[in-house]
Amino acid sequence: MEKLVSSWFNNKTLPQSYIFPPETRPGNHIIPRSNAIPVIDLGNASAHDRTLVVQQILKASQEFGFFQVINHGVSEDLMNDTMNVFKEFFELPAEDKADLYSEEFNRPCKLYTSSANYDGDKVHLWRDSLRHPCHPLEECIKIWPQKPTRYREIVAAYSIEAKKLGSRILDLISEGLGLDLGYFGDKLSESVVVSVNHYPPCPDPSLTLGIAKHCDPSLLTILLQGDVFGLQVLNDGKWIGVEPLHNAFVVNIGHQLEVVSNNRLKGAEHRVVTNSTVARTTAAIFLNPSQDCIVEPAKSLIRADESPAYRAFKFKEFLYNYVTMGGNSEKSLEPFKLHG
Ligand code: OGA
Ligand code: NI
Repeated sequence: MEKLVSSWFNNKTLPQSYIFPPETRPGNHIIPRSNAIPVIDLGNASAHDRTLVVQQILKASQEFGFFQVINHGVSEDLMNDTMNVFKEFFELPAEDKADLYSEEFNRPCKLYTSSANYDGDKVHLWRDSLRHPCHPLEECIKIWPQKPTRYREIVAAYSIEAKKLGSRILDLISEGLGLDLGYFGDKLSESVVVSVNHYPPCPDPSLTLGIAKHCDPSLLTILLQGDVFGLQVLNDGKWIGVEPLHNAFVVNIGHQLEVVSNNRLKGAEHRVVTNSTVARTTAAIFLNPSQDCIVEPAKSLIRADESPAYRAFKFKEFLYNYVTMGGNSEKSLEPFKLHG
């Protein structure tokens, strides 16, 4: 518990173990918070503009691997309640969170700090995290935090809505790729995991990171990033800041969608920078394949003059390798690549 950044950040300078090497630390460069990452209005998706929305999603997923969505159908009240209950969780007194703290790799619902392998970290990350599965709800909810008192009620409603939104976006993506409707609907997106990140104010944001450069192991990620800036996406070798937009969700393509689309869609690398003034709380919902689901390039996407870029694998095989490689985005797909 005492390792949590939120339990000691106030009275410390940045400890040596949080200082990244010069080549990976953010430094003092001003990263533009640009509007380059497309903002897509899903309010259009049910009308005659559906084809346009499909094209916008495909283009953004090919060029950036990232986009934001507005008019997505999740109510503003639910988004606010969810963000507030996550913030309240991190503000609880230490004794109310102590039972959830764990450094055990396989504990399903846990509060931890830095990475899933604190002792194995080369450098620690400036973040605390609460992570748990959300599906099937009736089973999962029993292991969720009991405080704040409305946590279970609000997060249950939120996880259902986020999954619905994710499925809708996956349907639009399958339409854009020319896959059967519902292609992603079953085992490929069966697992829903929430990861709530809490980044306290940091004494020197130029030297450390909240999350180091990575690509999500998921199929698709839906991020509630709140009003505080911190997320950066690597595009053409340059970092781009993702502007916080009120009531928008940030959506990104995970490694599994990269595989299924045979690299037509891009799983973009991203990282989180800290700031010295305000705490930042974000919540990522990962839509993942089930552990035993076979992931492979969709056969109908492989043209006659093309070969699949990956062999078929079980999602749990991928996860094992992802964790072993410490989330290194090049190496995590390497064993599954077919060359030639
Ligand atoms: C993640 C992630 C971004 C953020 O949890 O994988 O990239 O802004 N989070 O917290
Ligand atoms: Ni991520």
